[in-house]
Amino acid sequence: MKRALGIGLLGFGGVNRALAELIQQHQANQSPMDLKIVGVSDIYLGYALDPDGLDLDALVQISCERGALSVLGDPEPNNDAVIRSAGCDIVAEATFSNMEDGEPGISICSAAISQAKHVTTTNKGSVAYGAQVLSTLAKENNVCFEYEGSVMSGTPVLGWARNCFPGVRIEEVEGILNGTTNYILGRMEQGLEFDQALEEAQANGFAEADPTSDIEGYDVRAKVMILAQALFGAQLQKSDITCQGISSVTASQIERASAQKERWKLVARIENSGEKIIAEVAPKRVSEGDPLYGINGATNALSVKAGPLGSAMVCGPGAGRLETAYALYADILKIAKQIESKR
Ligand code: HSE
Repeated sequence: MKRALGIGLLGFGGVNRALAELIQQHQANQSPMDLKIVGVSDIYLGYALDPDGLDLDALVQISCERGALSVLGDPEPNNDAVIRSAGCDIVAEATFSNMEDGEPGISICSAAISQAKHVTTTNKGSVAYGAQVLSTLAKENNVCFEYEGSVMSGTPVLGWARNCFPGVRIEEVEGILNGTTNYILGRMEQGLEFDQALEEAQANGFAEADPTSDIEGYDVRAKVMILAQALFGAQLQKSDITCQGISSVTASQIERASAQKERWKLVARIENSGEKIIAEVAPKRVSEGDPLYGINGATNALSVKAGPLGSAMVCGPGAGRLETAYALYADILKIAKQIESKR
């Protein structure tokens, strides 16, 4: 019989709801452990706890109305109760992400890790500013801190870049790391106005609640901070990264590029000389022969340049509730495997 693994969900918006659905639908044959959701807390919906596992059918059907979790528990949120619950082994953190200092996500993750709970998060702000501190804290507490979904959602680009280039120095990474802007630029190429294209991206659920973060490149800048930390151990600050978004790219620039079989893309780039990290986010005109030329819609891509290999690229979904939830799910399975291997 499989051992149980208790999961606490912090935040119950689109991503953690989708995670609950994934666990409900897939866990029986995929997981080395029996996954149970033992607690949920959400700033708007309230909280619920059950050390034996909450009823998943009831949980995924909870409405989006304020206090809705009172059906299973209490109308007020209580992160601490979920974190401290004896049945909770892993916290899946998907709360609001602050791109200025990573709070309150860093404090939430830190509280969970200090209680010796494993943590997986998709919270870009808290990973951009807190990955180093939280990873160290996790080591001290003998638990895992995972954040695969913070860059390119469920496409496992962090694991790929971190683990698949042994023995060489990664000299450069370059990529398209924001689905909203890539979608907008593509739709403008097809003749849509900027505002119409943005509305579509919002309707598709790619754009941030405040799309300024997408448009001005701040979302990509946070992902560059995460990559720099994950791949090169460098904790960059916002001011270390030159950052320009797509608001300056005009319809006529896009048209002119298109006439010459070129496309505008919002490109993130990190150069690692071994001594120095140089990072930038900027719109760039790419030619037909560039691997980034064919990355369209909300798809993201990252290419890695490393030693004798030259460049290798991964592309895949970079946004979306289910795609991002998959990253949490994959992190949970990875942690479950590690727990089982230590038995
Ligand atoms: N707003 C982001 C994007 C979501 O469009 O890529 C994923 O980080």
